[in-house]
Amino acid sequence: MALVAVGACYVDTILTTPHYPGEDDKLRASSISRRRGGNCPNTLEVLQQLVAQSAPASKTQLNLIAILPAKESIASKQIRNAFEPQVSLSHCIHREEFQEPASSYIIKSQASGSRTIVNYNELPEMTLEEFVQIADRLGTEIGWYHFEGRIPDVTLACIRYLRQQYPDIKISVEVEKPGREGLQELAKEADVVFYSKSWAQANGYSSAEECIRKQSSQTRNASFLCCTWGQDGAAALEPFTERLVHSPAYTPKGFKVVDTIGAGDTFIAGMLYGLIFNGNSWDLSKKLNMANRLAGTKVAQEGFNNLGSVLEAFF
Ligand code: FRU
Repeated sequence: MALVAVGACYVDTILTTPHYPGEDDKLRASSISRRRGGNCPNTLEVLQQLVAQSAPASKTQLNLIAILPAKESIASKQIRNAFEPQVSLSHCIHREEFQEPASSYIIKSQASGSRTIVNYNELPEMTLEEFVQIADRLGTEIGWYHFEGRIPDVTLACIRYLRQQYPDIKISVEVEKPGREGLQELAKEADVVFYSKSWAQANGYSSAEECIRKQSSQTRNASFLCCTWGQDGAAALEPFTERLVHSPAYTPKGFKVVDTIGAGDTFIAGMLYGLIFNGNSWDLSKKLNMANRLAGTKVAQEGFNNLGSVLEAFF
């Protein structure tokens, strides 16, 4: 089974500060770090660790479709080196006139655990025509496409193209950003939908369960809906069987919030792993518990290293 994730790739510059600064303040950060980010790349980074733990890597091909700057730019080389060969970047689209990657500047407050993200992206977005060329090149090799819910009009057209040309392909969508128009339409087309707490709250829902229960009447294709709720864990629903489960947030021994950047992306990696690689052998609770444990472990550590070991508790 091969999977393609379609989304933006960022380079994150993270300043850890004792608290969130006030406007026009001066504040000394306690550390700075730089790492490759972006929702789909973060998800793939974790997913490849899970896959490596459990199946011969050759049988499970992971691919990223993202817009990157010029092929020979420092940023593109660094991003490739960080991923290959476990994740293929050969279907990424390079904008040769640009040297700078999409960049996020993130203030990580130690007092609250919040991560405030300001980003800048001057790379022209993917067009439907570009996506179609790649999708046709990959053809039926691919069993699953996961889309970050951005540029909804183009993403919607991409999904519709896949549905028409490759009806057996499974499609998942992340519905994350509150206030972004068009995400509901993406959810309607997908087989699997991942909702964020911030999107759910902005749409008037007051719990993960309420979000997925009410959304299920609007998502005619979906066989699986899932919503995360920070410290309150996450819930998942299989609309066809009406089975709904909730799982509390996982807090490892001596838990302290260290790094919440990419926790949602990590959760999605766990769910995709459960759905794609253990679809029949793991029940709904086991899938959700694993994804929660993965996300909780991630929040208690810096970055995404060694998350594959979380799987050991589930064999
Ligand atoms: C975390 C993240 C960061 C990135 C930002 C993009 O979920 O993917 O890595 O900079 O969000 O919105």
